[in-house]
Amino acid sequence: MKSRPRLVAVANRLPVHRVGGIYPRWVTSPGGLVTALAPIVRKTGGAWVGWDGSTERKASPFTHDGIAIRPVSITESEVESFYNKFSNQTLWPLYHDAIRTPIFDRKTWRPYVEVNSRFARAAARTAQPGDWVWVHDYHLQLVPAMIRQIRPDVKIGFFLHIPFPPEELFAWLPWRKQILQGLLGADLVGFQTYAAVRNFSRLARDFTTAEGTDTALEYEGRTVAVNAFPISIDFKSFEDVARSRESSEAGALIRQRVGVGRKILLCVDRLDYTKGIDARLQAYELLLNSGRVSVDDAVLVQIAVPSRERVFEYADLRQEIDRMVGRINGDHSVPGRVAVHYFRRNFSREELIAYYRAADIMVVTPLRDGMNLVAKEYIASRVDSTGVLILSEFAGAARELRRAVLVNPRDVEGLAEAMVTAIRTPVKEARHNMNILRMQVRRHDVFEWADQFLRALQD
Ligand code: ADP
Ligand code: F6P
Repeated sequence: MKSRPRLVAVANRLPVHRVGGIYPRWVTSPGGLVTALAPIVRKTGGAWVGWDGSTERKASPFTHDGIAIRPVSITESEVESFYNKFSNQTLWPLYHDAIRTPIFDRKTWRPYVEVNSRFARAAARTAQPGDWVWVHDYHLQLVPAMIRQIRPDVKIGFFLHIPFPPEELFAWLPWRKQILQGLLGADLVGFQTYAAVRNFSRLARDFTTAEGTDTALEYEGRTVAVNAFPISIDFKSFEDVARSRESSEAGALIRQRVGVGRKILLCVDRLDYTKGIDARLQAYELLLNSGRVSVDDAVLVQIAVPSRERVFEYADLRQEIDRMVGRINGDHSVPGRVAVHYFRRNFSREELIAYYRAADIMVVTPLRDGMNLVAKEYIASRVDSTGVLILSEFAGAARELRRAVLVNPRDVEGLAEAMVTAIRTPVKEARHNMNILRMQVRRHDVFEWADQFLRALQD
């Protein structure tokens, strides 16, 4: 990585946000993208162009933890049209199997173009000769072609962190051609899985003038490389924290408080309808109702960080989960033995790792997920090589983590069965599987992910 050019990351979110009233300060933000990308940009002494999540006046450029931060402003009305609506009520559901019905509203397209153009201009200003620009995610799919127009001299990579849908869904989008043309402005377009590569290339051939194979498209006199780069985590940093005395003690305290003599099933998610939180609670409730599992045997801990709360589908989900947890606890908890511990807030990385250490079973059951880093974080934190991972077949991570208990997250009875299997897995078998899982994530960490993407960008 040392000889790599300086990287300019361009993502909707900056890796930091402001907290505190009178004396505000910048702190690192949660989320898969930041967790994965910040260490890489820092290593090249690079910059990050993005939004600070507020509509207050634009912050001046500054440096945070070795990264040059270049804030882009988004107005109140653009938060509504660009972020809440076009990004999170049109693209997000469309790209996730239309789990909720995508909304196609002509009024939101223009703001999407405008905000993309603002990001592209900021990136073009920030990039010095010889820098590489790396654009991220579904909010900014027009940016590669827009940067190319202003700065044809810089190399441009694009990586999509979420799934890319098949033609049967993508073709619904009234702006399908423009989105594809925007992405084809990159030198390299990367996805989490090969299925997404196939979907994209097929669509590019069908709806634009692009020709060629799934991994090399000829478009407007250039070759656009397309490939799969499964994202990962900084394995060592999770392992290091998990090995510390503080983490071991914090994990033991959690066990003592909630889990003495009980199996702890842990779930950690953004509060998002793609994560399958409701189906997994139903599965657990089924086990309690049927008497196959009792509150003396097991406890489910759900940690959920609120997300996109001004979007109706998210507010609705929050209420539904509140109701479900209330119902399960009302029906099944006994003094000193709560059936579901529900934390609806952000946890620090250290706190999360303590929970990962305490959990006998990690339940990761998204209905559709680009990758899912939580599954990998759990594995990296299991420094004693115990623990069982239940993982949805529809998370990108399922392609790699074959030693997990793989489940169809929509099959509530199958999911309940998988929980029982996990609870009963003999320690020796769990250890064998966890060792293989740990080897996989250790070898294929976030640095390898970035290295492979950047090597492919160089070619
Ligand atoms: P997504 O990108 O859809 O949010 P991922 O599983 O890939 O899903 O990444 C989620 C990231 O957010 C992980 O790094 C995880 O540790 C973090 N995270 C999830 N829930 C919480 C929480 N309650 N508190 C703090 N961090 C969280
Ligand atoms: O992985 C998808 C993603 O949009 C990431 O880019 C982001 O870190 C995370 O989900 C959180 O979403 P938001 O930026 O909308 O809060």
